[in-house]
Amino acid sequence: MQVITLLGSAKKKGNTATVLGWIEEELKTMGYTAERIYLNNKSIGSCLGCAKCRDNPDEIACVQKDDAIDIMEQMISADAVLFASPIYFWSFSAQMKALIDRGYALVTNYHKPGHTSLMRGKRVGLLVTGADAFEDNAEGMFTAFDRIVDFLLARKSGELYVGGCTTPDRLPEESRNQALELARSLAG
Ligand SMILES: Cc1cc2nc3c(=O)[nH]c(=O)nc-3n(C[C@H](O)[C@H](O)[C@H](O)COP(=O)(O)O)c2cc1C
Repeated sequence: MQVITLLGSAKKKGNTATVLGWIEEELKTMGYTAERIYLNNKSIGSCLGCAKCRDNPDEIACVQKDDAIDIMEQMISADAVLFASPIYFWSFSAQMKALIDRGYALVTNYHKPGHTSLMRGKRVGLLVTGADAFEDNAEGMFTAFDRIVDFLLARKSGELYVGGCTTPDRLPEESRNQALELARSLAG
């Protein structure tokens, strides 16, 4: 099984990257491939909302030929995709949001008969890290993600919010085990 992980923080050694690293290690221990894409150094233009991608449901027919195309192709080829983002103002980081928006090109006929998706049936998961420790602090992101999963006709296979984050060397004690759980649930 091949898993693509998407790191949405600018920090290569930050909180999100650290928890994500534990997840990737566990996946590898289980015999899976985990390949990380660091979104921050990719060129991912904002969705133009032109809807030209709607003209061809069989491929990523986006008019913008930037790194988002290759990333989405890797997502389509993988067995599972893990989205990992710090919470920024109760939402996804800009790097992650740009890619999510470009995912408009992965789907046709949303909310209509003939709804199709290049991500149909794909296992997807969400990891969020944040400073605030409230249990429902990332609720908005998880609600949005559930709807994104429906939009993509994908299969949610795990989610985790690690709150109370300060620095990577002082992550909450239970977060490592929670990360391993997420790896296992993503693998199915
Ligand atoms: C611009 C910005 C906005 C943030 N907004 C929130 C927020 O709304 N809620 C929260 O709990 N933490 C917030 N944080 C804290 C980060 O989510 C938290 O430190 C996270 O673990 C950082 O992950 P990283 O080290 O992978 O970048 C914010 C941080 C920044 C820089």
